[in-house]
Amino acid sequence: MAPSAAHRRRERSILMPVSPNAPAVSLRSVAITFGSKVGGYTAVQHIDLTASPGEFIAIVGPTGCGKSTLLNASAGLLKPSDGAVEIFGAPLHGLNSRAGYLFQQDALMPWKTALQNVAVALEPKGVSRKEAEAKARDWLRRVGLAAFVDRYPHMLSGGQRKRVALAQMLIRDPEILLMDEPFGPLDAQTRQIMGNLLLDLWASNRKAVLFVTHDLEEAIALADRVVVMSAGPAAGIIGEFPVPLPRPRDIAEVRLEPAFHHIHKEIWASLRTEVQKAYAQGEGASS
Ligand SMILES: Nc1ncnc2c1ncn2[C@@H]1O[C@H](COP(=O)(O)OP(=O)(O)OP(=O)(O)O)[C@@H](O)[C@H]1O
Ligand SMILES: [Mg+2]
Repeated sequence: MAPSAAHRRRERSILMPVSPNAPAVSLRSVAITFGSKVGGYTAVQHIDLTASPGEFIAIVGPTGCGKSTLLNASAGLLKPSDGAVEIFGAPLHGLNSRAGYLFQQDALMPWKTALQNVAVALEPKGVSRKEAEAKARDWLRRVGLAAFVDRYPHMLSGGQRKRVALAQMLIRDPEILLMDEPFGPLDAQTRQIMGNLLLDLWASNRKAVLFVTHDLEEAIALADRVVVMSAGPAAGIIGEFPVPLPRPRDIAEVRLEPAFHHIHKEIWASLRTEVQKAYAQGEGASS
């Protein structure tokens, strides 16, 4: 069936920036209620958040406050109950085709090799298999896995699987990266290596990034701006902190800078109460 004129207009509006200076992502007065509006659970409310093209934003907040929910709304997987999501100045309808999403859970296909898992990301773009595999090989080399292209996910370590997932997202060259605790299950050293790898790749081709983490140090080390959310229900943004640390940064070394300690103290002062609230709620629910 031929696409309708309205459909074509919508497609065009998501592909063409309305204004060259428009933010890559703009959440405006966003609220998200699960279930019915009456008697449902309002996870987030009054959310105003923008990410400029090329800006690295980290989102921190207590568990269950709605960080993944905000990424889902930015990806177009969830429609806000109130407010609007705009991508490069155009209202988002349906999936956000300009974003890549690294999920909180491992999302590799166990029956495909690392190479096939990465190459498959180009399938929707109509790229031939040969070309897709050549590009996938190159991306796996860039994430340090040249020797592991033929391994299946169960033959890779947690850190290696995350590298495959990173290559799988970046091969599509999305203009917006949505990353949900991507290094969460990894040990501290591997997290640092992955953080530096991400910063290197990002520095060579800057995208707008929304990076969710529960690790405040990781957030500061990576981001241009740290956004702090309150505990839910009806969680909101309670602070936005620019990170004045120079780039390029080394994830391990930047933590030793006095400016790092200063900003950590400042952000933790607002985050601590919210984390305590979330724990108190959890204990209340289980008693
Ligand atoms: N589909 C859903 N239906 C009902 N409630 C939901 C749904 N998805 C999320 N929630 C609730 O919304 C709130 C926010 O969830 P979300 O997953 O966004 O939190 P989070 O900040 O990402 O937490 P975590 O740090 O643990 O990953 C939680 O209380 C969660 O239980
Ligand atoms: Mg989450």
